[in-house]
Amino acid sequence: MSSQVIPGVDGHWIVRGIMPVISRLRLSRTDEGHVGSMDMWGTTVAVRTEETLRGVVITPDPSSGFGFVISGELEHNVLRLAFTNVGVDFRLTADRSSAEETRKHQDREPRPLPVPPLRDLPPDELVRRPPMGWNSWYGLRLTVDDLSVRRAADDLVRTGLSDAGYTYVTIDDGWQATRDSQGAMVPNRRFPDMVALGEHLHARGLKFGIYSSPGPATCADYAGSFGHEAQDARTYASWGVDFLKYDWCSAAALYPSETGMRGAYQRMGEALREAGRPIVFSLCQYGLFDVARWGRQAGGHLWRTGYDVEDTWASIAAIGFGDHADRGDGWNDLDMLQIGLGGLTLVEYRTQMSMWALLSAPLILSCDVGALTAEELEVLFNRDVIAIDQDPGGAAPVRRRLGAAEVWTKRLRDGVAVGILNPGDDPVEVEFTWSEIHVEDGGIIRDLWDRRVLSPSPTWSGTVDPHGCVLLHVAPPPE
Ligand code: GAL
Repeated sequence: MSSQVIPGVDGHWIVRGIMPVISRLRLSRTDEGHVGSMDMWGTTVAVRTEETLRGVVITPDPSSGFGFVISGELEHNVLRLAFTNVGVDFRLTADRSSAEETRKHQDREPRPLPVPPLRDLPPDELVRRPPMGWNSWYGLRLTVDDLSVRRAADDLVRTGLSDAGYTYVTIDDGWQATRDSQGAMVPNRRFPDMVALGEHLHARGLKFGIYSSPGPATCADYAGSFGHEAQDARTYASWGVDFLKYDWCSAAALYPSETGMRGAYQRMGEALREAGRPIVFSLCQYGLFDVARWGRQAGGHLWRTGYDVEDTWASIAAIGFGDHADRGDGWNDLDMLQIGLGGLTLVEYRTQMSMWALLSAPLILSCDVGALTAEELEVLFNRDVIAIDQDPGGAAPVRRRLGAAEVWTKRLRDGVAVGILNPGDDPVEVEFTWSEIHVEDGGIIRDLWDRRVLSPSPTWSGTVDPHGCVLLHVAPPPE
């Protein structure tokens, strides 16, 4: 038996796949130690490496913003890479190559499609209110399957949440397999029959949502719609799809400009309109290039305003208390409600619901709906809070700082919503007069979480819990 010498990890590596998250690696040993670079969705990132018994540990330079560490195991001339990013476990395989092959590989990478002339797609009336529903991502990530989507749908109906407005049921990343010989997208084995799944949802009065990317690969490295936009839109329509979340991901490498991004979204926006079925278009490009300014023109109805929300107070607070661009002619999507995922207290989940309602954001659950507690359901069912979110005017709240608290007022069709928020870690005493916050009193004032009518008074005063929110509805004074 001949014994094989396992070579070190130095050299060039090409990662398998059309355009995986990491496409190429260059690793070398220099006087300063083990260094290298990797190509990740079009950007080259410097890395530090450390050889281990079975391969290598690769750490992207902190300036890259990538906080994960990649472990590589060497098996003959194959390097198996594993890392976790935004909750997704990535497993990639890289083959040893030469500098020359690496260059050729780069040349073979998909080229951007020509940017279509930018135009203003005529507005439609498809989404008059911020969409409400459920999405598979945070609860299930890449384990999502037909059964879990049906179960979520059935739970929305059984709990009555669908009657309260939570009707969009969206399969996020992870449903795709590959394309057939005609180029049509085929779902993976976890989704045996998309038409039947769509029918299951529609029979329950629900809407069917799906996910893709303008790039060749999605954020979790599944096939995207690149070069197949019109075909994919027709496929979705034939499955009965009502909603598409379109996630930037690997398209970043192909279209690094505002015009390129707008063109890529417009291409799908046009394709959806020609697909023969009304499909809501949800842009997910993390708020780049002031999307609210042009999202509607590209055919979008809602758009994410930033990167992924997390089930932590820091994340909810950063999004909720951050700056919010005007919503334009669509809805600012602050990402999903974290209720039911287990990381926050009920007070904090209620605050997220309050802020999202005051900001007219889509209310999309992502937890196991069947496991929601009675208290959590009560938060989600609060029809007065939902009405603030769904108010057709979608007015942006006016925010005022009041000591350690913030008071937000949102004009509604039938009065004003007032949120009294405490971002801090200690209880705060708050007191204000209605005229101080430019709200006309004299009408009925209700506390929507405590569910009581307040006695008339020229002032409001009370204690707001840490990370808490008091939400009031002030009806217009009688004529
Ligand atoms: C992220 C996106 C998430 C989820 C994920 C799927 O980019 O912001 O909401 O869709 O990709 O891979």
